Amino acid sequence: MKKVAFDKPVLQGEITVPGDKSISHRAVMLGSIAKGTTSISGFLDGEDCLRTIDIFKQLGVSIERDGTNVTVESPGMHGWQQPSSPLYAGNSGTTARLILGILAASRVTSVLTGDEYLSKRPMKRVSLPLRSMGASITGEADSNLLPLTITGGPLTAIDYDMPIASAQVKSAILFAGLTADGETSVSEQTVSRDHTERMLAQFGVDIQKEGNKVRVKGGSDLHGTPVRVPGDISSAAFFMAAAAMVEGSSVTFKDVGLNPTRTGILDVLKSMGAKIDILEKTDGPGEPYGTVAISHDGLQATEISGDLIPRLIDELPVIALLATQAQGVTVIKDAAELRVKETDRITAVTTELKKLGAQIEETVDGMIIHGPTALSGGTLSSYGDHRIGMMAGIAALVASEPITIEDPSCINISYPTFFNDLEKLAFPIK
Ligand code: S3P
Repeated sequence: MKKVAFDKPVLQGEITVPGDKSISHRAVMLGSIAKGTTSISGFLDGEDCLRTIDIFKQLGVSIERDGTNVTVESPGMHGWQQPSSPLYAGNSGTTARLILGILAASRVTSVLTGDEYLSKRPMKRVSLPLRSMGASITGEADSNLLPLTITGGPLTAIDYDMPIASAQVKSAILFAGLTADGETSVSEQTVSRDHTERMLAQFGVDIQKEGNKVRVKGGSDLHGTPVRVPGDISSAAFFMAAAAMVEGSSVTFKDVGLNPTRTGILDVLKSMGAKIDILEKTDGPGEPYGTVAISHDGLQATEISGDLIPRLIDELPVIALLATQAQGVTVIKDAAELRVKETDRITAVTTELKKLGAQIEETVDGMIIHGPTALSGGTLSSYGDHRIGMMAGIAALVASEPITIEDPSCINISYPTFFNDLEKLAFPIK
């Protein structure tokens, strides 16, 4: 339990959020597939990414971590050893789904497991296309649920049209394509985050992009390389939304990732009326990042749908909270994927915000929120989901009474220093 209370807070100051979760996972994965040394800076030392490190250690890769600096030294994926016990992905969907593609392409046999939440999440979206490449993946419900047994072996390239927008699925197929016989392509209807494509190029893979189609040739050699991980815009989003929500606030975010496949939150905050200034931007190598200042400047309702959804999928819980304070009716649709995240985030967000008095309705693929509504305090569940837990912490900034968060430790999955940063930025006016 964690009690969070503020008396007329205003958010002011500068913040550097921890490293990007998606990029940290991929840096360890590609560093382990590659031959040689990969030095990672800005790594996210959150629970999910530590699970990824542990798995590759079990496969015989040498990984040393000193805070946010990680050194990976690998003999290359064909030099990995047979793991002596199951590989545990914990709560991490990204670890599980991406590693399925990697293990299918390897020469080891392994069993992949996860915690109680991950064990209920669908894996078929990855195991079915991998099986069509010739992968041996077996497990319950037609290889839909962990634990899964993967026997690595030769694969054949496929052309895959993705039925859903998912960077996890796209990445798993591209990883498997690295050893497949022929050229693998993945086409998406709506563009999802492209960190895998960018990082494969950094590791020396010839990866081609034409519109919404990505192609990779089997047999590419990967070479270890330095990787700089920018701050996670999905973590920053909690304080970006807070700065836009609380009158008088102004917060500067340093070294935050600005990959256009992830910056939907900035578009939404702008359309809701916040003042946003990009003070500095660097384009790479690898990932764009920069310094962004966000200030409160009124708050209006908006509509969030279509191609915008994958660009802010993880930010929708805090956006829903923000909408409770905006003038008018905010509609979020085309977001049914929220139902298969760490928890069903549509039900979790509506249930918890209603407890505070919000006027919010659940729809099949989103939410409808009427604002502005004064929020009361209360006890909110995190559902073991880091982003629901952090949404509850941010709600305390506008709630009239304290908010108590049940099971707040899940926040360590992506943002171990969340409460310190919240206290640092939000000082009360007497
Ligand atoms: C992620 C992709 C997204 C996102 C998740 C991280 C990734 O999931 O929600 O937090 O790193 O590839 P989907 O691919 O299921 O949309």
